[in-house]
Amino acid sequence: MSENVNDTILQVSHLSKKFGDNEVLKDINFSVKKGEVISIIGSSGSGKSTLLRCLNLLEEPTSGDIIYKGKSILNRHYKVSHYRAEVGMVFQQFNLFKNMNVLRNCTIGQEKILKRSKKEAEEIALANLERVGVAPYIHAKPHQLSGGQQQRVAIARALSMDNEILLFDEPTSALDPEMVGEVLETMTQLAREGLTMIVVTHEMDFARDVSTRVCFMEHGVIVVDDVPEEVINNPQNPRLKEFLSRYLSDRIASE
Ligand SMILES: Nc1ncnc2c1ncn2[C@@H]1O[C@H](COP(=O)(O)OP(=O)(O)O)[C@@H](O)[C@H]1O
Ligand SMILES: [Mg+2]
Repeated sequence: MSENVNDTILQVSHLSKKFGDNEVLKDINFSVKKGEVISIIGSSGSGKSTLLRCLNLLEEPTSGDIIYKGKSILNRHYKVSHYRAEVGMVFQQFNLFKNMNVLRNCTIGQEKILKRSKKEAEEIALANLERVGVAPYIHAKPHQLSGGQQQRVAIARALSMDNEILLFDEPTSALDPEMVGEVLETMTQLAREGLTMIVVTHEMDFARDVSTRVCFMEHGVIVVDDVPEEVINNPQNPRLKEFLSRYLSDRIASE
């Protein structure tokens, strides 16, 4: 299969992260092409959030490299602010500014970081709030919205920053079950529009139906990295099989 290396936008090589003596990420290698949607699955404590936090430079990797558009972002001469403006993150707990209304939540970063005018920032915010279906609530404060609406505002806020890549850390895990669908639908729509996304998730249907690739992590290692049909429908690795069957039995138990 011929591959255009220029399609690769992010490449992680031999990445390791230690907290003291605890090596939480071990020799992580993977690459992301423009427009790919990568789901990261694995048990609690396997290092998924730490991996996203390293990709976002919320944590400093202990060793290894992260290459963004051909340049090492860990090189001390690299302009980190440039990278930070290109990679956005959506958190489990939404992390909206509680004292600001929906519109302001989506404009403040554009004004302060991207130096856009108030007018331009508001136009872009409104377009993105419409895109995720929460435009009617621009004057509401976060606490007046449901969890699903708050998470969609958080997604609109990230989109308003024109990121090249969006990282999602269990974006539906804090939601009441009836809210999960609307957020997954929004994410599915963004995937179809070609947004590059890395999504830590326990939603196996999303991982199977929307991702281009699924990575299974265990104890800080990517054990399996393959297309969703292989990972979810035809798992060969015994630990992955066990993880998936545990997930299925939990789901049946909760129905
Ligand atoms: N800031 C930190 N300091 C020390 N240990 C941490 C820190 N963050 C995460 N860890 C440890 O790293 C391991 C992986 O955690 P995490 O990346 O949150 O896993 P996951 O997101 O897959 O549940 C856990 O053992 C956790 O205790
Ligand atoms: Mg986590």
